[in-house]
Amino acid sequence: MPKREDLSKAKKNKNDEFYTQYSDIQKEINAYLEYNPDTFRDKIVLLPCDDPEWSNFTKFFAQNFERFGLKKLISTSYAHESKKINEPYQLTLFESESPKFDEKKTKVKGKIFILDRDKNKSGKIDINDLDWNYLEGDGDFRSEEVKKIRDEADIIITNPPFSLFREFLAWIIEAQKQFLIIGSINCITYKEVFPLIKENQVWLGNGMGRWISGFIVPKGYELYGTEAKIDSDGNRIVATNSCLWLTNLEHGKRHQPLQLMTMEDNLKYSKHKDIKETGYPKYDNYDAIDVPFTDSIPSNYKGAMGVPITFLDKYNPEQFRIVGLGNGAELFGPTKIYINPVMHKNGKVSNGNAINRVLVYPTTENAKVFYTADNVDYPLFAPYARILIEHIDSE
Ligand SMILES: C[S@@+](CC[C@H](N)C(=O)[O-])C[C@H]1O[C@@H](n2cnc3c(N)ncnc32)[C@H](O)[C@@H]1O
Repeated sequence: MPKREDLSKAKKNKNDEFYTQYSDIQKEINAYLEYNPDTFRDKIVLLPCDDPEWSNFTKFFAQNFERFGLKKLISTSYAHESKKINEPYQLTLFESESPKFDEKKTKVKGKIFILDRDKNKSGKIDINDLDWNYLEGDGDFRSEEVKKIRDEADIIITNPPFSLFREFLAWIIEAQKQFLIIGSINCITYKEVFPLIKENQVWLGNGMGRWISGFIVPKGYELYGTEAKIDSDGNRIVATNSCLWLTNLEHGKRHQPLQLMTMEDNLKYSKHKDIKETGYPKYDNYDAIDVPFTDSIPSNYKGAMGVPITFLDKYNPEQFRIVGLGNGAELFGPTKIYINPVMHKNGKVSNGNAINRVLVYPTTENAKVFYTADNVDYPLFAPYARILIEHIDSE
């Protein structure tokens, strides 16, 4: 019987076993190739935290090895026993029929798959030339063994375990590699991620949310809601709508300017009722206006603007500068400290200290949720995480 801590770890880590669909990988990678057909030429591409027998990254890159002009493709997988999941072990024919198969190693060792030559002398390098072996260890990306493989690579591509996302990104950054990985939309607000985005060292890939159409989940994963389906190959798919690609590979979308209206035109013609009725509230604790929709950013506003984090999907560094993140005092520097803040929610009151860490603007007492404090005589509203931006030409 599994131990209690193994079960709770499995529950916590269940999203770690979300596998990426082939079509989603293809769609994203195509966008880099459209911008620069040589993105992967003569490069060593590493796909860690993969499982080539089950996942699509290795399949996709192996099938396109020659078209992309790759120098070498390496992928590594994590040992079944180390995963601490409640899924039975499934041995593949690929492994069991190989002369390298080892009953003692199969569950406890990671594996490495390498493609760099026409092993079967078919005249082309493709998935049938994939060579493999057991690793010395379990394939943990943090191990010295996998770090050495990382250091050899030029570009790292994967959908890493969600529960280790921060550590995984740090692992890439410390080795100064190019990369393309999947993460949750909320990762934008992580203190380990946002400063890299602000400094334009890291940016979003070609899409977020529905752009990633869903993940393949293991047999034991409980499907829920209308967002779950079984595809024509029998794969069980969950559409999360909450993920994005994060990268430092160049692509064309980030250089397309957003088409915007002036503030006056937005106030007159915006399709958003809120903008026409309320306009752009000024924050109470920072010199900026609140812009609740990316398409309502006024083209002629000279100053800082708080926009939803989904703005980053449209962020063009030649058009805008990022100046802060409105959900951590250290990330934007509030100009006011609220004394004894109180949160009012559906008629109940509780500690409102949160407003000392976020952007807030004056509201009315009709709001469902609002804050009060000893040093202000009006109620305050805290919109969901905002990124502070300025037009580049606003000086
Ligand atoms: C989100 S899944 C994605 C799998 C595959 N890359 C894909 O996109 O289809 C993450 C994978 O990383 C593995 N994993 C979890 N912890 C790991 C670790 N510390 N080191 C390496 N791999 C790990 C999981 O078991 C899982 O197979």
